[in-house]
Amino acid sequence: MITLDGKRAIVTGGATGIGRATARVLTELGARVVIADIDTDGGQQTAKDTGGVFVRCDVSRREDCEAVAAVAQEQFGGVDVLFNNAGIIRRSTICEITEDDWDLVMAVNVRSIMLMSRLVIPGMAAQGGGSIINTGSGWGISGGASAISYCASKGAVVNMTRAMAIDHGPDNIRVNCVCPGDTATGMLAEEARQLGENPNAFYADAADRPLGRIGQPRDIAQTVAFLASDAASFVSGAIIPVDGAGTA
Ligand code: NAI
Repeated sequence: MITLDGKRAIVTGGATGIGRATARVLTELGARVVIADIDTDGGQQTAKDTGGVFVRCDVSRREDCEAVAAVAQEQFGGVDVLFNNAGIIRRSTICEITEDDWDLVMAVNVRSIMLMSRLVIPGMAAQGGGSIINTGSGWGISGGASAISYCASKGAVVNMTRAMAIDHGPDNIRVNCVCPGDTATGMLAEEARQLGENPNAFYADAADRPLGRIGQPRDIAQTVAFLASDAASFVSGAIIPVDGAGTA
């Protein structure tokens, strides 16, 4: 049984989906959590569920990220765990995507990790270590159809995880990446909407997956909790698919 007793965590994208489930699991294991999200209603609900602290934040904006780090410092006295999880998708090929959508996806999925991580790394280094977990995607490893900016962004997340782990290993800061497969969250419904498809299509073929189902947010959250914990003390720079052996 792992424990996160005494750990102080930030979860971005914690208003819904994988982020909300992770805030819950981290709390169940003893951590205190700051939930950062652009969605105020959802974020406040997660804070209520977990006894955590919600900060409204657009993770692509430096000032907003600074406010999140400041709240963690003021309320908890520092940060042991950063879960860089907020993300968006735009379903389009390279010929279809607008420059604005390209920039938005890269800002929310990639720039955010740069902004948030460098706000907490000095404090982690000073206190003797910490754990950063980034959310990649199976498509960040294999690519996928009609999601060029998303695939590019998640490929960047995967590779920056390795680079961050190398740079900050000497500070005992571990940096890892979870790569979910299809997981039952609002993002799947949003993808279906963008493609003009029925959201149930993602669920209909679930029985054909190796484990007979797609992922649930808690499946991802439990892996994040392990990576956040001292049980993962020699796990760094790892890119971990959490996809039930499903295709990306
Ligand atoms: P979700 O849509 O339920 O959650 C995403 C969260 O990010 C939402 O709470 C949303 O409000 C927040 N967010 C979006 N833009 C933001 C911004 N600018 N600033 C702050 N917060 C913002 O989707 P899900 O599935 O929980 O996504 C979490 C992560 O998992 C994302 O990085 C996604 O790319 C990744 N992922 C999800 C998969 C899936 O099948 N659901 C598969 C592979 C990766």
